[in-house]
Amino acid sequence: MQIDFIATPHKDTTTLVIFAAEGFSALHQGEYLSAADVAQLEKSLKINEFKGKKAEAQVFTAVGAYDRVVIIGLGKTEKLDALTIAEVGGAVYKVLAGLNVTAANVIVNTIEGNANTDAEIAGRIAYGAKLRSYRFDKYKTKEKDDNKKPKLEKLHIVVKEISAAQHYFEAKDAVAEAVFFARDLQNEPANVIYPASLAKAAKNALTPLGVSVKILGEAEMKKLGMNALLGVGQGSAHESQLVIMEYTGKGGSDAPLALVGKGVTFDTGGISIKPSANMEDMKWDMGGSAVVIGTIMALAKRRAKVDVVGIVGLVENMPSGTAQRPGDIVTSMSGQTIEVLNTDAEGRLVLADALWYCQKHHKPKAIIDLATLTGAIVVALGESTAGLFSNNDAMAAQIEKASKTVGEPVWRLPMNETYDKDIDCDFADMKNIGSGRGGGSITAAQFLQRFIEGDLPWVHLDIAGVTWAKKDGALVPKGATAFGLRTVEQFIRENFEG
Ligand code: BES
Ligand code: MN
Ligand code: ZN
Repeated sequence: MQIDFIATPHKDTTTLVIFAAEGFSALHQGEYLSAADVAQLEKSLKINEFKGKKAEAQVFTAVGAYDRVVIIGLGKTEKLDALTIAEVGGAVYKVLAGLNVTAANVIVNTIEGNANTDAEIAGRIAYGAKLRSYRFDKYKTKEKDDNKKPKLEKLHIVVKEISAAQHYFEAKDAVAEAVFFARDLQNEPANVIYPASLAKAAKNALTPLGVSVKILGEAEMKKLGMNALLGVGQGSAHESQLVIMEYTGKGGSDAPLALVGKGVTFDTGGISIKPSANMEDMKWDMGGSAVVIGTIMALAKRRAKVDVVGIVGLVENMPSGTAQRPGDIVTSMSGQTIEVLNTDAEGRLVLADALWYCQKHHKPKAIIDLATLTGAIVVALGESTAGLFSNNDAMAAQIEKASKTVGEPVWRLPMNETYDKDIDCDFADMKNIGSGRGGGSITAAQFLQRFIEGDLPWVHLDIAGVTWAKKDGALVPKGATAFGLRTVEQFIRENFEG
């Protein structure tokens, strides 16, 4: 879908979108509708009991010169923050996509009692509409599906402050494009996206943007002693990979911020094999790596003044004659030994070496890792909210703030010595699962912390419950969400740029 900003409605469409806040105070968009039409619309809205609640929608046909007038609710004007406006934009897309139209003019006028400029409103509507317009339909080859395919091709945002709106949208569009790229990687099945193909996709997409991308294979990782990661991939026909992406928007002389992602391109559980029901969901187990790759893309596309290194550990966890066994003991790159009591607790093994490699080779000033790490986090927080773990209150608070701004909820869970002891082990330095039945997401986080040196600020986001969605959301259609990308991007924007 193409989005542009123009001063007066485009002639290529007779569909008009206008907004109405609760109590209709914003329905005075009379420059494109006659007073009589506005009065008629207000009357109809009343009859239909339209309240103007956020994302509430009504479609009227044959109004004045227009074939369709779509009215979208804004909610309470005093509650109209950046996120709400983007969500309203999502609703604009959703409603238009359900109509038989190829283009629409969206009228943005000053909303009274609200701090957003017209340009900001226009840009945010555009951003929300764009995020919501994502589709993954490349494998749908049959014609009959075309009926379901939205026909909307052009969204004209009609606003007075054109260049300011364009400028605002440009940076957001870079993020949206990166979100789409990450969602595509996540949505692809595991026969298409495996470690080497994922590494290549990252390299092909990021190199032209000026990101330096290095890919390590098994021989190189073996030399580095990354046996925790390699053990997970040793049952697979696909070679494990480590991808290192360096974006140096600030010149690269400072210590970078590091992003580390779990990239298990398919998680069967290995010899500790998972039940067959819903096993297909484990194609999403590379969600964290897609978010890391996508975040680097967003920063590079909008030329952020910041140095960031992204590292993703890519493996496929398969059972086979060469697979790792329960009880195997591996020596990680850090020198710490791990008894692998459950081959399905593989993400932490991958991250252990990726985190260590990151600290040894890049000396970051802080690390954020993203991983679909535990089923336990879904039990604890459900499918709307990611788990946050950290050794640093200030950084945790910064991530929480950014997550609120973009509408990707996170909730911090505790970490302490008691939980840490739970992974002490009789035969090695640690075991890869806890002893008890509860608190599985926390013991997983404690495991990761054993691979963080000293007090290096670190945040771990367990995105197992949120990396894909079973139903449509305000900004995300069902399927891959790229959850975490917009939070990390916002966190960087607020705390690391300049
Ligand atoms: N990839 C899974 C976690 C997961 C579960 C992600 C559900 C998304 C949805 C992870 O590798 C895993 O299998 N974790 C085990 C750990 C257990 C064996 C200690 C789990 O959560 O069951
Ligand atoms: Mn697993
Ligand atoms: Zn996994």
